[in-house]
Amino acid sequence: MSDHKVTIIDGKAVAQTIRLKIAAEVCRLSETYIKVPGLAVMIVGQRKDSQSYVNMKRKACAEVGIKSIDLDLLENVSESELISKLICEIHELNANPYVHGILGQLPLPKHINEEKILTEISLGKDVDGFHPLNIGKLAMKGDWRYKVESLFVPCTLKGCIELLTRHGITIKGKNVVVVGRSNIVGLPVSLLLLKEDATVTMVHSRTKEPESIVRNADINIAVVGQAAMIKGSWIKPGAVVIDVRTNAVDDPGKKSGYRLVGDVDFQEACKMAGCITPIPGGVGPMTVAMLLKNTLDGAKRVIEG
Ligand code: GUN
Repeated sequence: MSDHKVTIIDGKAVAQTIRLKIAAEVCRLSETYIKVPGLAVMIVGQRKDSQSYVNMKRKACAEVGIKSIDLDLLENVSESELISKLICEIHELNANPYVHGILGQLPLPKHINEEKILTEISLGKDVDGFHPLNIGKLAMKGDWRYKVESLFVPCTLKGCIELLTRHGITIKGKNVVVVGRSNIVGLPVSLLLLKEDATVTMVHSRTKEPESIVRNADINIAVVGQAAMIKGSWIKPGAVVIDVRTNAVDDPGKKSGYRLVGDVDFQEACKMAGCITPIPGGVGPMTVAMLLKNTLDGAKRVIEG
């Protein structure tokens, strides 16, 4: 029998600790200034995964005392009608003093140019960090932890780094392999890890022999969106595995008919990795906690200066 020991990184527990601190801060703001942070959460269309993420975000706001302003828009209208409606809503939210953060759940419907919409969000309220200028700042030298006005870092990236640092995992000088190059996580997390002095390699659909590259990783970040694609044999013994994407796979044995798995084959990876995040209960809860944190920070800038 193998005596290999793996640490399962409990993102849910870390997120809960962070949320308690946020709730206390929200309470302090409310008692001192009679003001609470407000977050507008917009969703367009009926995508099941997006709806469940948005519901989680709205519920999390309520639990820490942040007011969520809910906007649910229909997607079955013409491109031009939807774009003008979205831009009009965003301009109203930009001007609304009770709103400190604006989030548009991504992806937007295929016929909408996301960049065009994200550009309209006021930089001071871009708590999701997807305004092209905030994303662009990740590609420029500078300390991302230094609170420059208008700089928000996307929540999932912040959540990954927070999990690593809270578990005493050094990033500086490590070989980090990011599997996946999406706008939402893969590409920006690579830029943030570079800022943290990691040696970053990106693996994507056109990469030759991805397994040999992944096998060189001290830290592995998986953001592909393909269930259990990364096998145990790809993982360097003792490596850190951060599995980000949630995939639903059919499971007739479950009442719901499906179960949630990551991009990494969890059972196999546990035999090789030193530390690993589970799905569910790993990075997901951290994304929500970081969204609450960004919203609180945005509100504090306005309320306390
Ligand atoms: N879709 C998947 N992850 C995210 C996220 O962190 N923010 C937004 N707005 N959309 C997403």
